[in-house]
Amino acid sequence: MAYSEKVLDHYNNPKNVGTLDKSKATVGTGLVGAPECGDVMRLQIEVDPATRIITDAKFKTFGCGSAIASSSLATEWLKGKSIDEAVQIDNMDIVEELNLPPVKIHCSVLAEDAIKAAINDYRQKNGLEVLQFEESI
Ligand code: FES
Ligand code: FES
Repeated sequence: MAYSEKVLDHYNNPKNVGTLDKSKATVGTGLVGAPECGDVMRLQIEVDPATRIITDAKFKTFGCGSAIASSSLATEWLKGKSIDEAVQIDNMDIVEELNLPPVKIHCSVLAEDAIKAAINDYRQKNGLEVLQFEESI
């Protein structure tokens, strides 16, 4: 199966690989695993407490090229969004942007779940209501 150019670019030059200090109240951490393949993704956001805008995002993904590309793209999209806008990111937007084939859709679900988990971690730390999400697929 051929990967698309965009997947290869995010895979070869992943953006925002790294770690934020998860002990900080301004940092939300999401750690999720894909039951389909056992791959694991950690995605972190740093949020400006005054505006609730995401000022930084980092990830580490132990997984396939599509999962790495999905998390790289997700961190790019997160920066500059408010946490309320960020929860709207849908895995199908990632699928479309990266042209993922059906067998790789769950890799994008991992990214969506990691975003939501990171936002909820931040919300919980900061006394905001924890959001309930429907299953992505
Ligand atoms: Fe995820 Fe191969 S199945 S890395
Ligand atoms: Fe499992 Fe990509 S995350 S194959």
